[in-house]
Amino acid sequence: MYTDTSDAPEPIALRLEAVSKSYRTGTARVPALREVSLSVPAGTFTAVMGPSGSGKSTLLQCAAGLDTPDSGRVLLGSTDLSRLRRRTLPAFRRDHVGFVFQSYNLLPQLSVARNVILPLLLGGRSVEQDWLQYVLEAVGLTGLEERKPQELSGGQQQRAAIARALITRPDAVFADEPTGALDSAAARQVLDLLRHTVTDLGQTVVMVTHDPAAACSADNVLFLADGQLDGSMANASVRDITERVAYLGER
Ligand SMILES: Nc1ncnc2c1ncn2[C@@H]1O[C@H](COP(=O)(O)OP(=O)(O)O)[C@@H](O)[C@H]1O
Ligand SMILES: [Mg+2]
Repeated sequence: MYTDTSDAPEPIALRLEAVSKSYRTGTARVPALREVSLSVPAGTFTAVMGPSGSGKSTLLQCAAGLDTPDSGRVLLGSTDLSRLRRRTLPAFRRDHVGFVFQSYNLLPQLSVARNVILPLLLGGRSVEQDWLQYVLEAVGLTGLEERKPQELSGGQQQRAAIARALITRPDAVFADEPTGALDSAAARQVLDLLRHTVTDLGQTVVMVTHDPAAACSADNVLFLADGQLDGSMANASVRDITERVAYLGER
């Protein structure tokens, strides 16, 4: 062996460099993110926690290219999102980013299978049947492919949305409170599924959650307070996270 890779940095799936974002409300500007810098290693599960209004959704939307920072840079995989043109960003997102919303956002008129493969169809890409079957099986929806979303439970709909997020093998999957509308049993299944996509498929997942029990499925928990990063924890217990959340922003 000619190269010693033991000191090689782990590959980074997502990097934010001094990302700031504010919203205009009337004449005032509300800062939502203030110079947030962070790195997410590829193949890890990251949870983002913080009080309501601390900037969690804005952080996820900027990281996923659904929103544009006022300043700073977002690098996803090997792509600097700020260098993409406004017109090419939607196609980049469709091919490289998976996004899971609290409200599933499945198209009601399409079957589960059509919903799952939609990003491929829209991108003019062919459907690898083996991968589709694998993904449907991984999310536990084999046999339910031809149902319409309203013929599924909330938990099943969210698992279909996760399958849709995985189908393109994206650089990262972003999930904003994916268990927020689910009962605790369905929430547990969705969290186990996200964990499984990281551990077994090597997927990178970034999830916003209010729930310490959900956050402890993650490898790392990032804490946001008032638009700024306020520390992180690795492999934390529910108890550690619950205690930490109680003191957020009290610096
Ligand atoms: N579209 C918007 N217009 C105006 N203000 C917004 C908008 N979206 C978010 N904000 C404000 O930005 C801050 C951060 O919001 P958000 O990222 O949604 O926080 P979180 O997801 O942690 O609750 C809050 O003060 C919120 O009121
Ligand atoms: Mg939010």
